[in-house]
Amino acid sequence: MTFLVPILICVVCVLYSYYLWKKSCPDTDNEPPKFPGALPILGHALQLIGDSCHLWRAVNDLANKSYDIGGVVAAYIGPRTIYVITDPDDFFTVANTSLEKDGFYDFAKPWLGEGLVTGKMSIWKNHRKLLNPAFSQIVLDGFLGVFNDQARKLVKDLEKEVGKGPFDHWTYTRHNALETICLTALGVDFTDHTILNSQYVHATEQIFNTMVDRFQKFWLHSPLTFRWSDVKKKQDACLKILHNMSYTVLRRRRAEFDVNNILPERKTGNTSGKKFKAFMDLLLELSVEKGVLNDREIREHVDTMIVGGHDTSANVLMYTLLLLGSHPEVQEKANQELRDVFGDSDRDVEKHDLSQLVYLEAILKESMRIYTIVPVVARRLDRNVQLKNYTLAAGRTCFMFLFGIHRHPMWGPDADQFKPDRWMDPATLPDNSNAFAGFSLGRRMCIGKTYALMSMKTTLSHVLRKYRFKGDHTKLELKLDVMLKPASGYYVSIEKRH
Ligand code: HEM
Repeated sequence: MTFLVPILICVVCVLYSYYLWKKSCPDTDNEPPKFPGALPILGHALQLIGDSCHLWRAVNDLANKSYDIGGVVAAYIGPRTIYVITDPDDFFTVANTSLEKDGFYDFAKPWLGEGLVTGKMSIWKNHRKLLNPAFSQIVLDGFLGVFNDQARKLVKDLEKEVGKGPFDHWTYTRHNALETICLTALGVDFTDHTILNSQYVHATEQIFNTMVDRFQKFWLHSPLTFRWSDVKKKQDACLKILHNMSYTVLRRRRAEFDVNNILPERKTGNTSGKKFKAFMDLLLELSVEKGVLNDREIREHVDTMIVGGHDTSANVLMYTLLLLGSHPEVQEKANQELRDVFGDSDRDVEKHDLSQLVYLEAILKESMRIYTIVPVVARRLDRNVQLKNYTLAAGRTCFMFLFGIHRHPMWGPDADQFKPDRWMDPATLPDNSNAFAGFSLGRRMCIGKTYALMSMKTTLSHVLRKYRFKGDHTKLELKLDVMLKPASGYYVSIEKRH
């Protein structure tokens, strides 16, 4: 019988913590309806267990329920209430009233610390102001040489796949995007395919997996249980490689300041040879001139740029090429635009070309709407928030479903279809400025939006002038691995254009 005593103590402790948690964030008078199927104590936790394809299906069920009942639904993981929002205006309200990221983002803190994506509000407010100039148009224009060189490199790398049937184009876009962001954020040229490069790519991939693993295993949410888990061991191994890289580059670059505290300029390596300033250099200069950022903070911001900037753009390009392969008529229209702007030349993309590539931009936005690469963002509510139909309670988590907004009934009966032409005429778009949230909405929206569109348009301009793509996106099975990823079958084939 004595063995029952510790079990009883544990049960009492769990129930008491459950009670305390519930009491700390009381319901409002106008709570959103509950998602069906909650179990006592566990809530919907069991519904999340499964692989990441299962997770994607589960969040879709939540989104569909939310549409039916006014744009918000409440789900439960143990004592935690989690609100799910699919209404664009409610999304915007929460995005601007609750700037604090939810505790789930802490899963990425060992890697990204207080960088912009994961940073707590008090730090984020100052640092976002400090970093905004690093994304000014004049800095981004300096990257155009890198974007062109990298696009040419992708064209060259793809050459070996011509006429060979379906291949996995994701490995190409991913490597290329990682190289691009390492050049522009760190100033490091990874294009030599060293072991360090492949180790770094592998570690980036693996660390994402550890975060998804932790999210799905709710018993690892607590730092106490996580500390002793295999997932943590795997994460630590990745961190060693990732941090080592950024610190090494940072220290080397700091040592290059001359006697007047000026850093030597960098040049792009390949054809253009144009000068540019990497994000790390801008932050190092800030730290020297204004004494504002220490090495750890610079490392966290640069790592955040690398994370935020490569997987996202690479995935959007991967989905876009697959969608174009599945819609030859759209691909031909894109090529007509490229012929109008570039004629028969394979010249570099210049600054003034970008504003003319309106159909390419429509394609990219439509692709981001159909396959919303960051499907969910989460905030912690630091006050009660009044929405159109309900009131959310302070202290709770709010999941904002970006992909849910993109399939909202306001997009019309063809919301599921890839139709870039809808972006060419404002009359065929929803009459709501919050209807597109591919880069999120509000004050914590993506700082790299213009960078991403410039680099992706440049890449597409080169690749589509050279190759014709074929594919079939209807065969895709999707999974939620922090981002929306294909579980299988994202293959395309290419042939040369004449
Ligand atoms: C197609 C490409 C991209 C997409 C779809 C995308 C999407 C997003 C989204 C949805 C957020 C909000 C995340 C959240 O609240 O949890 C975000 C934030 C952010 N993104 Fe991007 N992003 C892209 C490219 C980039 C690039 C190229 C960079 C940097 C070079 C970047 C850097 C960031 C940073 C630093 C934040 C945090 C902003 C803040 O909280 O102040 N992103 N991005």
